[in-house]
Amino acid sequence: MNNTLLNEEKQGEILQYNPEGEPTILPTKKMYIESYGCQMNFSDSEIVASILTEHGFSTTTELYSADAIFLNTCAIRDNAEQKIRQRLSALDAVKKNNPSVVIGVLGCMAERLKTKLLEEEKIVDVVAGPDAYRDLPRLVAEAEGGQKAVNVFLSREETYADINPVRLGSNGVTAFISIMRGCDNMCSFCVVPYTRGRERSRNPQSIVDEAKELVANGFREVTLLGQNVDSFNYVSENGETTNFAQLLELIAQVSPLLRVRFSTSHPKDITEEVVHTMAKYDNICNYIHLPVQSGSTRVLEVMNRKYSREWYLNRVAMIKSIIPDMALSTDIIAGFCTETEEEHQETLSLMELVKFDYAYMFKYSERPGTPAAKKFNDDVPEQEKGRRLQEIIELQNQHSLQSNTHDIGKTFTVLVEGLSKKSKEMLKGRNDGNKMVVFNKKDKKPGDYVNVRIKGCTSATLMGEIVD
Ligand code: 5AD
Ligand code: SF4
Repeated sequence: MNNTLLNEEKQGEILQYNPEGEPTILPTKKMYIESYGCQMNFSDSEIVASILTEHGFSTTTELYSADAIFLNTCAIRDNAEQKIRQRLSALDAVKKNNPSVVIGVLGCMAERLKTKLLEEEKIVDVVAGPDAYRDLPRLVAEAEGGQKAVNVFLSREETYADINPVRLGSNGVTAFISIMRGCDNMCSFCVVPYTRGRERSRNPQSIVDEAKELVANGFREVTLLGQNVDSFNYVSENGETTNFAQLLELIAQVSPLLRVRFSTSHPKDITEEVVHTMAKYDNICNYIHLPVQSGSTRVLEVMNRKYSREWYLNRVAMIKSIIPDMALSTDIIAGFCTETEEEHQETLSLMELVKFDYAYMFKYSERPGTPAAKKFNDDVPEQEKGRRLQEIIELQNQHSLQSNTHDIGKTFTVLVEGLSKKSKEMLKGRNDGNKMVVFNKKDKKPGDYVNVRIKGCTSATLMGEIVD
């Protein structure tokens, strides 16, 4: 039946009926969402879009046609926050052009700064923390009425399990699924426990259902997201528990066509059971992101990471003993409080031992309110931090290039994600180990699995040709 025939005016809202026969509000306003920071934020933006879609908004990619603009922000390092402040300044022009546009700051920076953000950035109308997204329709309505609106309440239960995310900027092939929220680890440098609150796990059935729906819609890869997926622990009403290995198995069983990835693993919690589950299912990718942060046991202790250098190396050995060609990536912080030159050298030597395929590397950035900010002096000079970081980056580039060079001549199964950035004649996709591969197009399209023989590489990309 034609939906428009069912439209009706009710209490000032235009209603239509969805295919299930439930009334929904016709979109009359447009929202524009920009996401910054980690994958979890990109996933959260899809939850935000879903909630507002149910309340009269549709999405737009045009800033100037938006009725509401949201920045989903990151607070992990100071430069992440500076970027947002610059973006807010740039939005001045949009607000001048359309004074009624609602500007909302969401996510970790909103949670960290709370009402202070309204004082410091006059352009902001709405401040909403990561657990307050269900309240956004009310917050936006308040802002439309000329009031500034804030909700930074952190929840112990909210997992948005029932929300069906609106996939934003999607390639139609790969998607994120949030499996848990918050973090209880209290690494001393990290602001996340304060901006995202306590750890809680989502109902596994709702995760399986989301994965099934993605497959039905043509998606071929999901990445299960959590700050520490290894501590996933769902307790049902009748007391049954599901751990991460069990969840991984449930998702792997959704469809053999669906690739399963996950992030982030924690060295103190990753279990053999998880790695055995990865070995059992071909569609679970042989790739683990295992942040080490430092190669020095003393520095790890002041970071409150709850493992030593030896423990980390032992976990890597455990992983490789079960899956020898497991791809590994990591996070490293250079110049944490009290780190000496010798301890920095220990980070370099650990990198030599593990030879990560990829790494995310950062200079330590003090975050107000964290245990490190309270207890220690940020005493490694900026220039020294820069030099240490540079050495780490250079070593990693060598390792990434070595790892990629080692792949020349091998054939990988690649899931096609879309056209390569550099040439419309080429396709791109990832192999099992999460490496980006660029190859000839033939008649292939996004969502296809192809076998690609590797012919060349840079430190960032593999280049190859489809083989039949
Ligand atoms: N300074 C620098 N890097 C940090 N990270 C977290 N907090 C900080 C900080 N204060 C890094 C860690 C973490 C990654 C997501 O960001 O390496 O694993
Ligand atoms: Fe931050 Fe540590 Fe939690 Fe990761 S595990 S989010 S680094 S506190």
